[in-house]
Amino acid sequence: MPLLELKNLVVRYGEIEAVHGISIAVEPGEVVTLLGSNGAGKSTTLRAISGLVTPAAGDILFDGQSIAGLKPEEIVRRGIAHVPEGRRVFPGLSVKENIMLGASNRSGLSRRQIATEAEAMFDLFPDIRRFSGALGWTLSGGQQQMVAVARGLMAKPRLLLLDEPSLGLAPVIVQAVFAIIAEIRRRDTTVLLVEQNARMGLSVADRGYVLETGRLALSGTPDELWGNEEIRAAYLGGRTASAA
Ligand SMILES: Nc1ncnc2c1ncn2[C@@H]1O[C@H](COP(=O)(O)OP(=O)(O)O)[C@@H](O)[C@H]1O
Ligand SMILES: [Mg+2]
Repeated sequence: MPLLELKNLVVRYGEIEAVHGISIAVEPGEVVTLLGSNGAGKSTTLRAISGLVTPAAGDILFDGQSIAGLKPEEIVRRGIAHVPEGRRVFPGLSVKENIMLGASNRSGLSRRQIATEAEAMFDLFPDIRRFSGALGWTLSGGQQQMVAVARGLMAKPRLLLLDEPSLGLAPVIVQAVFAIIAEIRRRDTTVLLVEQNARMGLSVADRGYVLETGRLALSGTPDELWGNEEIRAAYLGGRTASAA
């Protein structure tokens, strides 16, 4: 059974229909990448899964149970963490405090236990360890992205939703962020990743879906998606991988 299944999902913002009936499955342990240009409906899809917008039609199954329309807190409690677009690090809190906030869905933990777990997170994010006590606003974009992902992992999610983690980051930092995603996969957390950067997005993926203005245009393994020159030119940012 898929861990996550979207069935003919439709999402509207008032009169605007942003997602026109898409069906996607994510199997346990997979990294699945949702590709598509700006405005394709990628963030809207993630927002529907995490309960930030209510689907107008269709269904969202997590572990076989419908979660469509549940409150975001309930969806986090069931095991879905969402690292939204834009980094949303609390500027006046320290890095460690920012990371600790991610555990707020888990009951019965003492503050000390949460602090210990937050410190253990730095094993996965060694680049930000030395900023543990620094305030959020003092961090670079890449460091903030790492804090945001670490905070998502503190929820101990069964499914992690990552929205454009590479956006606006320098190439060397993008590499570091994707190395972390690969490591998260090795630790058996299922990931639904949204990316405009097709090359990086597919480099860590088991499968990919391409969204085009709210509809699924394509899906397949990274090799299948890259293997077709027309697909590459039309959807993945041109013939050369580096242009993607
Ligand atoms: N809060 C909103 N209100 C109205 N329209 C929105 C809102 N958020 C997104 N949209 C529209 O929905 C469509 C999909 O947006 P989005 O899901 O953010 O795309 P992507 O993440 O793929 O760039 C776009 O046409 C966008 O303008
Ligand atoms: Mg988006």
